[in-house]
Amino acid sequence: MKPVLTLTLLVALLGAWPPASAAGTAPTLTRLRTEYKENPLGIDARQPRFSWELSSTERGVMQSAYEIRVALSEPLLAKRPIWTTGRVTSDSSIHHAYAGPALESRRRYFWQVRVWDGAGQASSWSAPAWFEMGLLAAADWSAKWISPEAQPDPAKPSPSPLLRSTFTISSQVASARAYVSSLGLYELEVNGRKVGDQLFTPGWTSFDTRLQYQTYDVTDLLTRGENAVGISLGDGWYKGTLAWDGNRNIWGDRLGAIAQIEVTYKNGRRQMMATGDAWKASTGPILRSGIYEGEIYDARLEKPGWTRPGYADTGWGRVIVLDTQRKDVLIAPAGPPVRKTLEVKPLKIIKTPHGETVFDMGQNMVGHVRLSVNGPAGTVVTLRHAEILDADGNFYTTNLRKAAQTVTYTLKGGGPEVYEPHFSFQGFRYVAVSGLPSEAALDQVTGVVVHSDTPFTGRFETSDPLINRLQQNIQWAQRGNFLDVPTDCPQRDERLGWTGDAQVFARTAAFNADVAGFFTKWLGDVAADQKPNGSLPHVIPDALSHGKPDGGAGATGWSDATVIVPWTMYLAYGDKQLLERQYDSMKKWVGFMRQQAGDAAVWRTGEHFGDWLAYATTRSDYPGATTDKDLLATAHFAYSAGLLQRMAAVLGRTDDARELAALQARIKEAFNKEFVTPNGRLASNTQTAYVLALAFELLPEPLRAQAAARLAADVKGFDMHLTTGFLGTPYLCRTLSDSGYLDVAYGLLTQKTYPSWLYPVTKGATTIWERWDGIKPDGSLQDPGMNSFNHYAYGAVGAWLYSVVAGLDLDPAEPAYKHILIQPRPGGGLTSASAVLQSMHGEIASAWTLENGALTLNVTVPANTHASVRIPGAKEAAVKEGGAAVGQAPGVRSVRADGDSVVVEVGSGKYSFTCPAAR
Ligand code: BGC
Repeated sequence: MKPVLTLTLLVALLGAWPPASAAGTAPTLTRLRTEYKENPLGIDARQPRFSWELSSTERGVMQSAYEIRVALSEPLLAKRPIWTTGRVTSDSSIHHAYAGPALESRRRYFWQVRVWDGAGQASSWSAPAWFEMGLLAAADWSAKWISPEAQPDPAKPSPSPLLRSTFTISSQVASARAYVSSLGLYELEVNGRKVGDQLFTPGWTSFDTRLQYQTYDVTDLLTRGENAVGISLGDGWYKGTLAWDGNRNIWGDRLGAIAQIEVTYKNGRRQMMATGDAWKASTGPILRSGIYEGEIYDARLEKPGWTRPGYADTGWGRVIVLDTQRKDVLIAPAGPPVRKTLEVKPLKIIKTPHGETVFDMGQNMVGHVRLSVNGPAGTVVTLRHAEILDADGNFYTTNLRKAAQTVTYTLKGGGPEVYEPHFSFQGFRYVAVSGLPSEAALDQVTGVVVHSDTPFTGRFETSDPLINRLQQNIQWAQRGNFLDVPTDCPQRDERLGWTGDAQVFARTAAFNADVAGFFTKWLGDVAADQKPNGSLPHVIPDALSHGKPDGGAGATGWSDATVIVPWTMYLAYGDKQLLERQYDSMKKWVGFMRQQAGDAAVWRTGEHFGDWLAYATTRSDYPGATTDKDLLATAHFAYSAGLLQRMAAVLGRTDDARELAALQARIKEAFNKEFVTPNGRLASNTQTAYVLALAFELLPEPLRAQAAARLAADVKGFDMHLTTGFLGTPYLCRTLSDSGYLDVAYGLLTQKTYPSWLYPVTKGATTIWERWDGIKPDGSLQDPGMNSFNHYAYGAVGAWLYSVVAGLDLDPAEPAYKHILIQPRPGGGLTSASAVLQSMHGEIASAWTLENGALTLNVTVPANTHASVRIPGAKEAAVKEGGAAVGQAPGVRSVRADGDSVVVEVGSGKYSFTCPAAR
């Protein structure tokens, strides 16, 4: 064995030695992020925030100070930084805002960081990271908004316009950028190649006031001499069919584009090529496209070479300049782009009783099909998409309502053809194919999964395959419904940013993926679309009441997204700036409720969805599950006022905090007077009523225990079933497990009959269903008017799986997992559970097993954080870490008994705790 290996082995065996206080090896710095992104191109935050991770194999590693420096190039970082913090005493490694000289449009900046650990030992400077600014001011846009002169009837879908131009590159290019946006969707090509890997650009926002542009590095696409650029457009959300009643043209009735390619030559000269009146317009093979409709594509109409130099565009029409279209609405994306992230191969080809040829993808997914086909020109292949087969095994599309989600491809002939739709997505597991020139073969269809590319950060697993499938279904529902905005469902004629769905699922979403940027973007639209009276439209961006000053807004539990989502993001990512930015919007919403509730502080007005889709009883021996809407509204009023109070305190707005605390106390009092009997019975004797009263801490202490007992009794009395809808479900298990009814919470989790989380799993679900019984026990289907099989709301139980079953949770007092709470609660017959989370500070893990009468709990605490590890059912003397007495273990700061648990305070590192299992 070589000496170096021996040393490595020795280090591994010694593990955490020497202890934290002694000087060990300084940490290394990794994952440098600017505004949540690694090396982002084209941002517009004027004071971007820097975050980094410390990485170390030692235990108890903390940062005691840091230094950041920023420069105009890598070599200048050491020599001539434009800004440096100097050594700052701080243990914070996230969200440090740049505060140097004003950042300039288009410029790339480099930064790096070094830190000092707890022993005062300095790390090396990190590897440099960079960020590049986009266009910060409307005046940076020389390009003009353009649109084809010839305009089709806006009342109907029409062929996708193509826009093209050419330009000459006269010398060697050092770098080139394209800045692009559109009214409608766009795809950009330069010299015959699609630029970038993003889909559904420029994304979906409150277009009137916020329209994203993308920045692309096109350096490698340019050649000396003539170059060509082309933009194709699709109706998308902006102009296409959206919501119901054939509603179109919500934000505008004319497609358009703006683009500028800026070239910097090696000799320092700069050149700009921009959209303007010299561009030409035509149409091509996309005869129509729509988010719901699908796409009709005739390959015989392709214009080969239209984005290459040398193409003859004689016969193309003119464009006009859209003088009234604003440029000051253009913003850089805060969230991740939509991309293709996975491919799914079909499992089998089915011949249905009706004779359809159907590919089974084996997974309900969102995206599109890549079709491979070979046949004569003019052959028309049709792809229809559905989520399920009906009880007879036939292709079932009734639940799609008016969304055709049908793709039609007409072959050009002459050899193998491969086609993917451009401006539409489909929600499907099954694909019915007709018109193929020969017998269908499995390799002709590939499912392409498309969604906002939020990095998946979380994993959760147990010893129970059904619960694991539930977790996978939650993740698939998240994939399918995070498509630039958080949507309710991805298949029927809806696919809208329903606020209620987003708020109930946000906490779970933040376990599964890094959704900080995704929700930061959406919350910008929430604030932008808020009604003047402070109420919030039901969907954001506002496709349902766009342009109306009021109406279609202000539903309890839905509009509360404006308060709940920022708070949830703050907890998971520690983002105070987001709270600051949303503050006015949150305050306006609480103000709206206050005005509605009046002096009585009981909210009785307005239209509400209530505890949406709660169990509708048909049993005479069950009292029912419909919760009074006034109760729900007043409960959420109190909850949002309370959250806003906490946020005001975080932001140091002490006057507001004081006033909100008083308001919340008044609402609670009113709630108790109006909805709670002196003995603690609620006006609505439903699971949801008790859950919310407990979870939102509305009841006085003496009534809490008996409210919890009533809740548990209700569940048990209904043979261990839940009856909650959208508003009660997210808090159900947590409320039970926090109130001494862990066994009841597990009873619900492991329940396999309707209504329950596992019932759909036993029916073969591969995503979360909208209804507890989308497919009924007898195989018949729920009301097709509303029966989505990909709806994440009930997947909100995911947060409980991570935080209680596996026991990986956060402490609101030290958000972003700066202080981690590891507190697993084994139960439900499980013999193991584990959760892993890539947090802002690094990887956290909590994994327990029960084996041979012993509980083993393996924990990872990232550097620069600390954790309280609660070992359930343990006695201090019996707890070991790494085989030795727990109190002696390096990294362990203290050990104490708390009830029937032992709580160990630890610094960073990997730990393995064991103790005899509780009986
Ligand atoms: C959507 C929901 C939404 C609801 C409002 C439905 O059509 O699909 O998920 O929250 O309307 O109650």
